[in-house]
Amino acid sequence: MLKSIRAEFPILSEKVNGKPFIFLDSAASAQKPNSVLEAMTQSVHHCYANIHRGLYAMSEKTTEAYENVRRKIAQFINAYDAKEIIFTSNSTAGINLLANTLGTNLKSGQKILISELEHHANIVPWLMLRDRHGVEFRVVPIDDKGDIDLEIYEAELAKGDIALVAVTHMSNVLGTITPAKKLAQLAHQYGAKILLDASQSIVHSFVDVQDLEADFIVFTGHKLYGPTGVGVLWGRSELLEELPPFMGGGEMIETVSFESVSWASIPHRFEAGTPPILEVLGLGAVIDFLNKIGRQALLDHETHLVSYASEAFGRLKDVTVLGAPQKRGGVFSFVMQRAHPHDLAVLLDQQNIAVRAGQHCAEPLINRLGIKATTRASFALYTTESDIDALMLGLEKARAMLV
Ligand code: ALA
Repeated sequence: MLKSIRAEFPILSEKVNGKPFIFLDSAASAQKPNSVLEAMTQSVHHCYANIHRGLYAMSEKTTEAYENVRRKIAQFINAYDAKEIIFTSNSTAGINLLANTLGTNLKSGQKILISELEHHANIVPWLMLRDRHGVEFRVVPIDDKGDIDLEIYEAELAKGDIALVAVTHMSNVLGTITPAKKLAQLAHQYGAKILLDASQSIVHSFVDVQDLEADFIVFTGHKLYGPTGVGVLWGRSELLEELPPFMGGGEMIETVSFESVSWASIPHRFEAGTPPILEVLGLGAVIDFLNKIGRQALLDHETHLVSYASEAFGRLKDVTVLGAPQKRGGVFSFVMQRAHPHDLAVLLDQQNIAVRAGQHCAEPLINRLGIKATTRASFALYTTESDIDALMLGLEKARAMLV
């Protein structure tokens, strides 16, 4: 099955300097199966016009195709209703939308709670909210294994002033899969809502918003094997209905005059301007692709890769994997003694192995770990054991040169 899955990703057969290309940077952006571009090309050829605006058949057909993807995504994450799916440009846009709507409408003294695991996308919007609107946020620490400290988490909530918890469902640095359901239940127990950043988890595990008891989630298309430029904010409809819009423009209104404006209902209230129509259709093709393989098969593959890589890293000398969380998705950040993470990435690149090095848009977490940077390998549904073997061999060779 892995062979036939890989055949759907033409770039994986690409040779660099005549040798196979080994891609271990899917957490940054995943490769795309043929069906994504095919869906977008088919649309350009047979089904394209602006949506929700044209009173002609082609526009109606395109509107139907676009809205059909909304329904598919609703099913994929088990939303209560398709109108709860808001198309954004990426996860960052979804979090900024919430910061600028829910965040700016908090009552005086209400606060946001985030964690030390967060990506800049789930830190900077809250910093901006604090600096522009005086809304404070607090940060729950992680333990030395990379798990959120649940005792401190509950103690922060018990102070009674948290309106929204905004935490990752899976760390892009340590791979930690957070106990999202438990976090949601505790948040609700103390009267707070919860936003899960599912940018990584949607790729690596099941994201069932009802089972997780979430209030909001965000994710991005390009990490989920889809196009860039499209993402999703999901929220429970009764919460979204209460929020004012973030961006103003076409199609998000009911009526406009020079004196006043009234808002369209959800989801349109949050989709000002022409949306990323082709990209949404490409994302719809990904959902079909993933459903065809089966979520459980994907999860089993991932679980196997994580244990295979854990054992392989354990056999390497001078290499330390960061974090030992209770549950890890397919992301490994590591450091090699006496080697700079960037040098390591360059030496791996010379062997056609693509990894990411740096702070991974999570500078506070990297500081918390007491290091300057890491090298990171991340897996996807097309990753093989031999990719991991190649990484280990590549690291041995790099070690021989650097250490
Ligand atoms: N957030 C992306 C990463 O972790 C870009 O690499």
